[in-house]
Amino acid sequence: MIYFDNAATSWPKPPEVAETMHCFLAEKGANPGRSGHRMSLAAGKVVDDTRASIAHLLSIPDSDRVIFTLNATDALNTAIKGALKPGDHVITTSMEHNSVTRPLYGLRKVISLTKVRCAPDGSLEPGEIKKAVRINTRVIVVTHASNVSGTVMPVREIGELVRGKGLVFIVDAAQSAGILDIDVQDMNIDLLALPGHKGLMGPPGTGVLYMGERVNLRPFREGGTGSHSTDPGQPEVLPEKYESGTLNSVGIAGLGAGVDFVRRTGLNIIREHELELTRRFIEGANRIAGIRIYGPGPQTERAPVVSFLLEGKDTGAVGGALDKWYNIACRAGLHCAPDAHRTLGTLESKLVRFSFSYFNTPDEVDYSLQCLRDVRERDLAEITGGCNC
Ligand SMILES: Cc1ncc(COP(=O)(O)O)c(C=O)c1O
Repeated sequence: MIYFDNAATSWPKPPEVAETMHCFLAEKGANPGRSGHRMSLAAGKVVDDTRASIAHLLSIPDSDRVIFTLNATDALNTAIKGALKPGDHVITTSMEHNSVTRPLYGLRKVISLTKVRCAPDGSLEPGEIKKAVRINTRVIVVTHASNVSGTVMPVREIGELVRGKGLVFIVDAAQSAGILDIDVQDMNIDLLALPGHKGLMGPPGTGVLYMGERVNLRPFREGGTGSHSTDPGQPEVLPEKYESGTLNSVGIAGLGAGVDFVRRTGLNIIREHELELTRRFIEGANRIAGIRIYGPGPQTERAPVVSFLLEGKDTGAVGGALDKWYNIACRAGLHCAPDAHRTLGTLESKLVRFSFSYFNTPDEVDYSLQCLRDVRERDLAEITGGCNC
């Protein structure tokens, strides 16, 4: 299978991810942080090492501020629902994933919301965020890179805008962690949500929330933390305050191996490879009549995600044909981001999305271009159900 669905979850993982998980379960599978025996301590060390490795990657000065979550959605829910109070105003953009827009929609009766409109290529003018700030603005939440168009948002500039203003800056790094440079201090980010299972190459069921020093959120869950057991309420210490219940320690072990792979290989080497494949695909696709690509132009910074239409063909059928006839896994549909499709003008047509990883090759890209030429000429009537909406 040629796998171009890395924006949903990355595959394959580096071999050491599964090896580390197997070894963890076989040798250290006790509950970390709950007991004093050697196996529990060994499991705790694996968890701590993963925290430290993630802190290093993101320039987080204190690894206790790395909170493990289920995925990016879980981290975003903890951040958004924990930071906002009734009467607060929040600013977001028209390119967000449902993991941002749905928690905000759920709070609509108690907060007010400004959705800053992005340009048709998905780009955001940071001045528009500044204009939207009100006296009661508490939170700004933006994605770092769009999961539909690959457009990179001006996170650094927004960080400059919020500096010293008492605003909470939340960044959704679902499509950038492990690919683009992120420095939470330099970018002035208060809360950073990331999946462990995409660019960081860990297994599904892993995610992270970085919690900066300026924020103190209401915890989303309360319960056993293995510490401060006589306190009637949730302990204030990090990371326990936000990590009630048994951790996904085997997943975190695999995530540690994934992050170590990313650090060892080098973010710039990974990014350059993935962006070279993206450029190769776009250049080739631009030579195929009937393919229309959405998103930033060639000279603009982007993530290795590219979405397109094959004119006159049903998007779901194109995705289905690529899977069934050509062994290519991609995603076709709305990508859980209807606002982004409204911005790009593709809510009705939907889009086929290719998203590349470090393990994809130029030959795979060239083959996919040949397949798209072929698909353009064929009748797709027999293909059903290729769309995720
Ligand atoms: C931009 C963006 N935000 C959030 C998410 C949610 O990530 P997860 O599946 O880890 O919850 C995704 C998933 O694709 C995404 O692309």
